[in-house]
Amino acid sequence: MSRPPWLIVPAAGSGRRMDADRPKQYLPLAGRTVMWHTLRRLHSVFPGARLCLCLDEADACFDPSSVPFAHWQRVAGGAERADSVRNALEWIAGQEEDDQALVFVHDVARPCVSPEDLRHLYAALAEDAVGGLLAAPVADTMKRDDGQGRVAATEERAGLWHALTPQGFRLGVLRQALDAARRAELPSTDEASAVEATGLSPRLVFGRRDNLKITHPDDLVLAEQILAAQASCSLSPAGEEAD
Ligand code: C5P
Repeated sequence: MSRPPWLIVPAAGSGRRMDADRPKQYLPLAGRTVMWHTLRRLHSVFPGARLCLCLDEADACFDPSSVPFAHWQRVAGGAERADSVRNALEWIAGQEEDDQALVFVHDVARPCVSPEDLRHLYAALAEDAVGGLLAAPVADTMKRDDGQGRVAATEERAGLWHALTPQGFRLGVLRQALDAARRAELPSTDEASAVEATGLSPRLVFGRRDNLKITHPDDLVLAEQILAAQASCSLSPAGEEAD
């Protein structure tokens, strides 16, 4: 790997949908926390990367010993995910002179991202002027509701993808896109949508469907099973889960 990407991990959400006593990144998963696993996965592939971790300023659960990176920085989270990522980008821009530097953004709530997908995404974006994202083709038939619990329409599924993370973009492209989205008051739940709004087309990089985003209480059970299945298939590098 010529130069590892910058890493941004937005972790300033409250995870209200989990209905738990603490933010979901601090819930237990296979003997550790969700955040521990997520950061270990990133570190296993990008050990030399510099990490920007977005945390709520009032966060009382964060444990710095869960961060395996030698070079990392805590930045303040914002009101929305995009604000947290913008704060991290501003900090990176103060350290990085190269507008073309690659920046990967990965949700802290995705601890099952596979090392293979991380390597694949990095290789796919290394020479890409814009950037792109891990994504999985939609397999199910898609329904749109009418707001009353009934089907209003069946959506055409061909060509539809689930947007996953990491999403990786050139530093300059991503800063401009998120700044423009904020000025236009565009809701952006991921980086790609902000980049798309500038007229650019992010690259879709095929990603595994088990790159689950922990959102609801059942997801923790599923994530634990995915981690166990991945370990038994040797998807994780030897020793990654040990520490
Ligand atoms: O709530 P949701 O799962 O969509 O959040 C996606 C990611 O964005 C999570 O990693 C969460 O911690 C992060 N986030 C953030 N700042 C916010 C809201 C969410 O860093 N204000």
